[in-house]
Amino acid sequence: MLNAIGVTIRFGKRTLFEDVNIKFNKGCCYGIIGANGAGKSTFLKVLSGEIEPSKGEVTKEKGERLSVLKQDHFAYEEYTVIDTVIMGNQELYKIMKEKDEIYAKPDFSEEDGMKAAKLEEKFAELDGWNAEADAAQLLNDLGIEADKHYKQMKEIEAKEKVKILLAQALFGNPDILLLDEPTNDLDLKSISWLEEFLINFENTVIVVSHDRYFLNKVCTHIADVDFGQIKVYPGNYDFWYESSQLLLKQMKEQNKKKEEKIKELQAFIARFSANASKSKQATSRKKSLEKIELDEIKPSNRRYPYIDFKPDREPGKEILKVKNISKTINGEKILENVSFTVKQNDKIAILADNEIAKTTLFQIIEGELEPDEGEIEWGTTITHTYFPKDNNYLFEEDMTITDWLRQYSKDPDETYVRSFLRKNVIFWRRSTKICKSIIRRRKSKMCIVKNDAIRCELTNNG
Ligand SMILES: Nc1ncnc2c1ncn2[C@@H]1O[C@H](COP(=O)(O)OP(=O)(O)OP(=O)(O)O)[C@@H](O)[C@H]1O
Ligand SMILES: [Mg+2]
Repeated sequence: MLNAIGVTIRFGKRTLFEDVNIKFNKGCCYGIIGANGAGKSTFLKVLSGEIEPSKGEVTKEKGERLSVLKQDHFAYEEYTVIDTVIMGNQELYKIMKEKDEIYAKPDFSEEDGMKAAKLEEKFAELDGWNAEADAAQLLNDLGIEADKHYKQMKEIEAKEKVKILLAQALFGNPDILLLDEPTNDLDLKSISWLEEFLINFENTVIVVSHDRYFLNKVCTHIADVDFGQIKVYPGNYDFWYESSQLLLKQMKEQNKKKEEKIKELQAFIARFSANASKSKQATSRKKSLEKIELDEIKPSNRRYPYIDFKPDREPGKEILKVKNISKTINGEKILENVSFTVKQNDKIAILADNEIAKTTLFQIIEGELEPDEGEIEWGTTITHTYFPKDNNYLFEEDMTITDWLRQYSKDPDETYVRSFLRKNVIFWRRSTKICKSIIRRRKSKMCIVKNDAIRCELTNNG
């Protein structure tokens, strides 16, 4: 159980939250939601003890172990994969290393023997003998094969590091598990596995996510960060969304009725206040008018960005024909005889265990790569654009966000270009920022805005 008591967080003059009181109970999974920059990650850092709150405190029960999904992908470069996972339980890892050091001593004394015996006892208590097997199991479940378990982290590619850090957080059945956007950069299989893991997890989970499908599957509660407050609602994301919409509707209806009453009373007062015989009545109505208060409806701070792809002209029925495509890369056959047809209004998900196969197929479709065999045939009037997996090559020049987008816009006019940024508040505010310096996640969003500006008939989302 974790308890936030009167937690306030301020950065300079800005108050992120004020007086937050939440008890996170065992057996529950809390999904933390809120707009970008609302303070979700900061709140998680306060819960984990990484940041001190400006006011208030966070308490947990004595002896409870809290585990956090680490965000720094380069923090364990010199350690092996298996050690990185076991480090999820710091106490166990320390004992393991101390023990190994003692046994490795050339002059092993009686005192060392006693110390080792004590460490062995504690080690067994913490289920140390199963640590390696448990860590290996977690890694296997996440698709990290045995031949990588004893490699150093610096030899591991970025996508797999994400999984190893996740295994680290989940290792050793922690009492409280804090996860900040754990599904980012995970493949579909690993996301489903994580969902199952969290559904079966019997302790406390607090997870920040923008993925409502994931939140719906795993959450028992939703904690909404808005208006400098964090409110907890029982139920999953859909339940929270529907009930908060209903509440807002009810408040609006109530206010409408009150507004009508106010208008009616005002009219009455205006009509009769001059009339001596009825002025007494008018005064009493005036009093009741003063009593009516309009409940303050706070529209959410959230701005939901939207992208609505509208083609310039209605596309024909045949969008794309992929005919018998084959491709071999570095001696390995990546694609063999791939054929399919894309028709108007189709929405197609391409799934593959092999990342390279997916990327290669998209590159061939987009014309960036030639197939060894087969051909691609686009419909005659079709224009198309591409959302690449690695988009860094699009951001090499020093230019502002507006100028970057202008390159892809049919109309270079400032107002026209900025109209696409307007749909996405983050970029609207930063339209003069140099695009090279923006973070990876935002670059992906920029690519979506770019595709919107091109107004293509088809978007390949690799
Ligand atoms: N150490 C700090 N000093 C000053 N301001 C900070 C600090 N850490 C975070 N902030 C600010 O606090 C706000 C909340 O940041 P935080 O990262 O917690 O948001 P978030 O809800 O996790 O957003 P996102 O959904 O984009 O991940 C942001 O405006 C951020 O710039
Ligand atoms: Mg965050």
